[in-house]
Amino acid sequence: MTRRIEHLIERNKQWAAEFEAQNPGIFSTLADQQNPEYLWIGCSDSRVPANMIVGLQPGEVFVHRNVANLVNHSDLNVLSVIEYAVNILKVKDIILCGHYGCGGVKAALESKEHGLVDNWLRVIKDTYRNYSKRFHAIEDEKEEVDLLCELNVIEQVRNICHTSIVQNAWINGQELSVHGLIYGVENGILKDLQVTTKSVDEIETIYQLRSK
Ligand code: CO
Repeated sequence: MTRRIEHLIERNKQWAAEFEAQNPGIFSTLADQQNPEYLWIGCSDSRVPANMIVGLQPGEVFVHRNVANLVNHSDLNVLSVIEYAVNILKVKDIILCGHYGCGGVKAALESKEHGLVDNWLRVIKDTYRNYSKRFHAIEDEKEEVDLLCELNVIEQVRNICHTSIVQNAWINGQELSVHGLIYGVENGILKDLQVTTKSVDEIETIYQLRSK
């Protein structure tokens, strides 16, 4: 084993001992079940560690992360996570969390080939095109990236709400809110983008899977 990995395993031993000392019995409780109230969908970026920035412990948040915090309807990975979190764990809140200065969003704004990831990031270009008017007045590059980071969060909140999983939960009377937050890597602060959605009535009719 390399030194770097040995170092991590050593740190893990210390962490486990300290965590158990602070929370006696925590591991035996967690071994029986998980009962998180939140599903977090965020970016893979190392600067945005889900549990840490909201002060949640093991067992308290179900997490999915990918490049640029995208929720695509053909992505079995994220859909399986949402299905399990909503139908089995019965989380009450889904948090879609983006962050300012996202590398995936920056890459999507460039007219340049990056590799396979361009296929993944394509939907961010669509978002840029859909909101193109909002970008007309912006000359500053950072401001442009940050606006697209926010709009990307809003679009992904929509995508979550459009899934049959979330719509069926609402129709069946399950309490479930979908929130859009964005994190400042430069100050550690989360901002609520005020797009919380709690019912089928709040989504556009064309996306509703059952007519009334
Ligand atoms: Co990112």
